[in-house]
Amino acid sequence: MAFFHQICRGFSSSAVRAVVIKHVTIIGGGQMGSGIAQVAASTGHSVTLVDTSEDILKKSVKTIEGSLRRVVKKKFADKPEAGEEYVQKVLKNVSTSSDAGSAAQGTDLVLEAIVENLQVKQDLFSHLDKLAPAHTIFASNTSSLSISDIASSTSRLDRFGGLHFFNPVPMMKLVEVCGTSATSQETFDSLMNFSKELGKTPVSCKDTPGFIVNRLLVPYILEAYHLHERGHGSKEDVDIAMKLGAGYPMGPFELSDYIGLDTIKFILDGWRVMDPNNPSFAPSELLNKLVAEGKLGKKTGEGFYKYK
Ligand SMILES: NC(=O)c1ccc[n+]([C@@H]2O[C@H](COP(=O)([O-])OP(=O)(O)OC[C@H]3O[C@@H](n4cnc5c(N)ncnc54)[C@H](O)[C@@H]3O)[C@@H](O)[C@H]2O)c1
Repeated sequence: MAFFHQICRGFSSSAVRAVVIKHVTIIGGGQMGSGIAQVAASTGHSVTLVDTSEDILKKSVKTIEGSLRRVVKKKFADKPEAGEEYVQKVLKNVSTSSDAGSAAQGTDLVLEAIVENLQVKQDLFSHLDKLAPAHTIFASNTSSLSISDIASSTSRLDRFGGLHFFNPVPMMKLVEVCGTSATSQETFDSLMNFSKELGKTPVSCKDTPGFIVNRLLVPYILEAYHLHERGHGSKEDVDIAMKLGAGYPMGPFELSDYIGLDTIKFILDGWRVMDPNNPSFAPSELLNKLVAEGKLGKKTGEGFYKYK
């Protein structure tokens, strides 16, 4: 299997064995970082969660605790004491820090889930590259940026990859594991194994825009906007049609509101710069108008639909 990957993906190789990831430093305690921290801590990993302030970190830990309590309510319905013990045990595996540099020392994996901005991600990794141990693997949870571009700010190209989780992390089973042409086979194997240890199903993908899921999903969502803009179906009918006709749990407009319209616009705008003539990335006036009005979906109370 390893040989197959090497042929197919052109990995560089060395005699070094895959790193067993026991301690993970997660940078960014937002939606994704908190979710990944929860899952890693629940599967026995020691986690340091990093964000820019103690206040944000307190909120992150509260989010993790709330999510764990929801799990426990179902899993330990008849044994509330055992449930409480479980929550405390998992929380013990999570420490927090507002100093990324010191959190990167003595860790096996630095996984970044900060703002989707290339320069900010590059600055972070360039800084940590000088401080983290030689064996430490770096990974990004980016949805739309190139892993090679992010990695280029470091001197550990062979120990750099993509680990793309899905929201909400505790519920969603998939992880897209991305190696660049410089990622070593050992690093790739470590990231695959880590994903499996988290109870996820990893798939291997190339360092191309949107990896697999978003490369298919975003053009589909955009085509739904265009279909609606052409007057070929109301958003309600399109959503019903895709749920009942294609078996999707949400229609494209509902899903857009859940993801965040700003996020979808950000991804599309970035891809259009890379591939301006691709009709799959053609702008949507409706999307641009809603984003300009601050109607970003569920998180702002209104997007394609109203919430409240
Ligand atoms: N939201 C999703 O559905 C989703 C899914 C997959 C991947 N992603 C990717 O994950 C990343 C994070 O997304 P999110 O939705 O969790 O964002 P978020 O806004 O909820 O959280 C980002 C967190 O990073 C912190 N942060 C920003 N810059 C930092 C820095 N330099 N050092 C430390 N902390 C910093 C912020 O304070 C914030 O708490 C993005 O790259 C995004 O593209 C998001």
